[in-house]
Amino acid sequence: MYAPQPFGCRERLLMTLLDHDRIRAVVWRDGSLELLDQRRLPQCEAFLRFNEAPAVAQAIRNMVVRGAPAIGIAAAYGVVLAARHAFATHGDDWQAAVRGDLQCLAAARPTAVNLFWALARMQRCLDALAPNVDPLLALLAEADAILAEDIAANRRMGELGAGLIDAGSAVLTHCNTGSLATGGFGTALGVIRAGWTAGRIEAVFADETRPWLQGARLTAWELTQDDIPVTLLAEGAAAHLLRQGRVRWVIVGADRITADGSVANKIGTYGLAILARYHGVKFMVVAPSSTVDMALASGDEIPIEQRAADELLSVGGARVAADGAGAWNPSFDVTPAALIDALVTERGVVLQPDRAKMQALMGDGV
Ligand code: MRU
Repeated sequence: MYAPQPFGCRERLLMTLLDHDRIRAVVWRDGSLELLDQRRLPQCEAFLRFNEAPAVAQAIRNMVVRGAPAIGIAAAYGVVLAARHAFATHGDDWQAAVRGDLQCLAAARPTAVNLFWALARMQRCLDALAPNVDPLLALLAEADAILAEDIAANRRMGELGAGLIDAGSAVLTHCNTGSLATGGFGTALGVIRAGWTAGRIEAVFADETRPWLQGARLTAWELTQDDIPVTLLAEGAAAHLLRQGRVRWVIVGADRITADGSVANKIGTYGLAILARYHGVKFMVVAPSSTVDMALASGDEIPIEQRAADELLSVGGARVAADGAGAWNPSFDVTPAALIDALVTERGVVLQPDRAKMQALMGDGV
């Protein structure tokens, strides 16, 4: 049973008073883009400054910033940097000069559609500008709007998703979907933040998430920063945990959702969805509409990023695998809609998503 139970007055008051949301990883400050270097967390909290778009693209590729919405937001500010540079160096021909940087940003990572969504939105803004007008203010306003809308969507999804959770529930999450992975508050972790604050969630379990350890390094850091207790487990322990009967919901984010309701997310998500179904645990996907790609008919069409073998063969820079072993390192997998009990977007909750419900949610596009 998971009919939505919207927040009452007391839960809303708790949400206002106990705002578990202090982290921002993508910041425009003093004319530069600053990214919290997520490769160094939790040992070191250091921001890197960016003034050129190719360096932003490299930061996305190298996981300085990661998580679907955060990648899109960083790329949007990358376009601001590209246009500022082109306007200063190329005169009236600046718009053509920006094109190369846009392509460079688009090539950074292939799976999260938020990247391409944000670049397309910035391109529309660029197209509306006159060639002889300084583009900085208009583009910066657009990037700021993308950031602000993402946070607002996350807050809305937090409340909608938490409304599905019965008081006293334990939940399991995968990867990092919080403030670090978004403009702020988070998608799946936003639901967990809201559910914890409102008193509906009593325990949070997080997969360590090999090989980048987003769960162990980032989700655990983020939740403890915001005073929400978290218990880590190795992915291999998830079946054993779900069998105990304590976890009521597995809650994850998404990198791309196709027109049939299939969900690409961090490798291991598909396995969790199968485990959840087998054990009678509900499975929730939380993502803003900027993650939906209605141009792709099915999950089979999603480009799945393959990352370097060395990410799997080594830990913390030291080789752990036997010499001579190869590695297969897909960064994402695809969960079919049939395994999803609830898809939460800022536009509303879709129970048991399918093609017709996705069409009704999205209309003709994003
Ligand atoms: O490789 P990453 O760390 O970018 O992968 C991130 C994920 O898979 C997240 O679950 C997804 O982007 C949703 S983030 C709100």
